[in-house]
Amino acid sequence: MNYEAFAAQLDHIQERATASLAGIDASDALAAWEREFLGGKGELTMLMRSLGGIEAGQRPDAGRRANEVKKGMTAAYSAKEAAIKFGGLTTRLAAEAVDVTLPGRKPNIGYAHPISLMIEELSEIFALMGFQTVFGPEVETTHYNFDLLNIPADHPARDVWDTMIVDTPSDAIVMRTHTSPMQARVMENTSPPVRVVVPGRTYRYEAQDASHEWMFHQLEGLAVDKTIRMSDLKGVLQELARQLFGPTRRIRFRCDFFPFVEPGVDFAVDCAICYGKGCRVCKGSGWLEMGGAGMVHPNVLRGVGIDPEVYTGFAFGLGVERMLMMRHGINDVRAFAANDLRFLAEFASFSAHAGRGSSV
Ligand code: PHE
Repeated sequence: MNYEAFAAQLDHIQERATASLAGIDASDALAAWEREFLGGKGELTMLMRSLGGIEAGQRPDAGRRANEVKKGMTAAYSAKEAAIKFGGLTTRLAAEAVDVTLPGRKPNIGYAHPISLMIEELSEIFALMGFQTVFGPEVETTHYNFDLLNIPADHPARDVWDTMIVDTPSDAIVMRTHTSPMQARVMENTSPPVRVVVPGRTYRYEAQDASHEWMFHQLEGLAVDKTIRMSDLKGVLQELARQLFGPTRRIRFRCDFFPFVEPGVDFAVDCAICYGKGCRVCKGSGWLEMGGAGMVHPNVLRGVGIDPEVYTGFAFGLGVERMLMMRHGINDVRAFAANDLRFLAEFASFSAHAGRGSSV
């Protein structure tokens, strides 16, 4: 090949390569272009292999020109490669853009059930008076639910608690009808002084209506020591009423009967809505019933091996649903277990302190 033909072919390749490169905008097409012109079997490479056939005097010149063309094409290739890479990034950035100024979506993390909040609040009130919170079994034996509470098998008082009996041959397993069996369990395992509260579910075989549920919550209280008197019970319950319903609350004790206390009382707080005058919330009586209480019966102490000549104690039982109904003017106990989120969400903003803080 002579020098002229070589130069003409070189120009030709350069022209076509430049034109073809201009139309390329993707990396696979660019790779094909590279193979076609610059690769080991590419046109430029093949042409340069024929340099040896050029007359010696003109060979260096031809070689220099060919190298310039190769350099130019390699540079154009690199520039295109960068443009494709950068161009792709720009398009991707545009397509995947995130608007960081949009407010985030608030995750729905839920909230505690009003009953749980009330139990937490009660536990805290009693903790400040030195009571420890403990929990007991919901499936109980009649031994703890009745016998140790001074309610023998044929005692008519058993009928007061409409008991759900678990289907076992002996009928000795029941759903606990109150939290009082924990009085015996705690005293069996702890020597006085004892100060505990026991929140939890209780069960009764009852027709449901606005004030009766077959499952509801109680909070049991028990204090046993050498000098516990009725006035201690009264002071603790008075403080409870203040914490729950406000600083000027008064409480009332009336005689009542529970086989495991003597004397026994029911206790009430004066209605925080009408201050005792009588209104719809207290059904005209001026008083709201909170629960039962009394001094622990000597037979109960004896039954768990505590000498009633040395130790005395008081016990009380609160209805947890009842406390919420009284404080928030809720008139149907079934609302708590109905799982209507519109009702439950009303309590979402209640911390364990909200109710007390607002009234103290
Ligand atoms: N356990 C009783 C009830 O459920 C309430 C109570 C508890 C009464 C403690 C006196 C002492 O009716």
